Amino acid sequence: MSSPSLYADLSHYYDLLCSNIDYHEQCDFVLRANSLWGNGGKQYLDLACGSGMLLAHFSDAGFSCNGLDISQDMLDMAADRCPSANLICLDMSEIDLHNSMDLISCFLYSIHYCSSVAALQKTFKNIYAALAPGGVFCFDAVDKDCIANDDGHYHYLTLPNHNQLRFQTRWHYSGEGDDLDLHIDIRETAGESQRHYQEKHSMTAVNIINIRQMLENEGFEVQILEHDFARLREWQGENGNVVFCAVKAA
Ligand SMILES: C[S@@+](CC[C@H](N)C(=O)[O-])C[C@H]1O[C@@H](n2cnc3c(N)ncnc32)[C@H](O)[C@@H]1O
Repeated sequence: MSSPSLYADLSHYYDLLCSNIDYHEQCDFVLRANSLWGNGGKQYLDLACGSGMLLAHFSDAGFSCNGLDISQDMLDMAADRCPSANLICLDMSEIDLHNSMDLISCFLYSIHYCSSVAALQKTFKNIYAALAPGGVFCFDAVDKDCIANDDGHYHYLTLPNHNQLRFQTRWHYSGEGDDLDLHIDIRETAGESQRHYQEKHSMTAVNIINIRQMLENEGFEVQILEHDFARLREWQGENGNVVFCAVKAA
């Protein structure tokens, strides 16, 4: 399967696109959730690890790090950032590990890259099998029924060579079915000239209650939290962005 350009020949833009994300805060959030619900073990796997931002923070926090991604270009960046990590190039629905991971994460809505609802269910099954007893799976997700189909988010940067970058990311959901599109628009302006890239990533639409049910079907105990990495707060049932902490029985 070929990766979207942002994760292949345009992967040099990836860290710039994510430069406004506080991975340190995200790591702290997962560590706090893990200390509440986890088994205390140190084997960590980041699914769809991208360029290894979270891997580097978990390595600093004393975890033995494993990263999985479908794109070798992204894994090459992860290898530079976190040389001690064990990296696997694979579709996340195909993970085949048994009782060996204590903590598994999948962030920046990457779980929606599972190619269908059936692939998502298979991924949850394989993650359950991969976790040691008492292990935790932490990931974020967006509810298809809360997609605004608006302009999404803009992120502007000036590069050291004075080129101007504008990133736009937006969701689109038709209101029916399981297809969710992520539109990414990258413009780099250098004086009078401009490079412009547009791509559409095909993702899987689900809602929060269905995800909880799918996780419970595999045997997980599920906590749903507000998507606020500054604090751990139980989901109040209104926001369409959440973090799941799914715990395998000890
Ligand atoms: C939005 S990036 C997130 C990367 C990282 N989690 C982060 O927070 O920076 C999505 C990543 O998912 C990877 N990906 C897409 N589909 C995948 C799949 N089916 N299995 C594993 N990785 C996948 C892409 O190659 C990309 O690195």
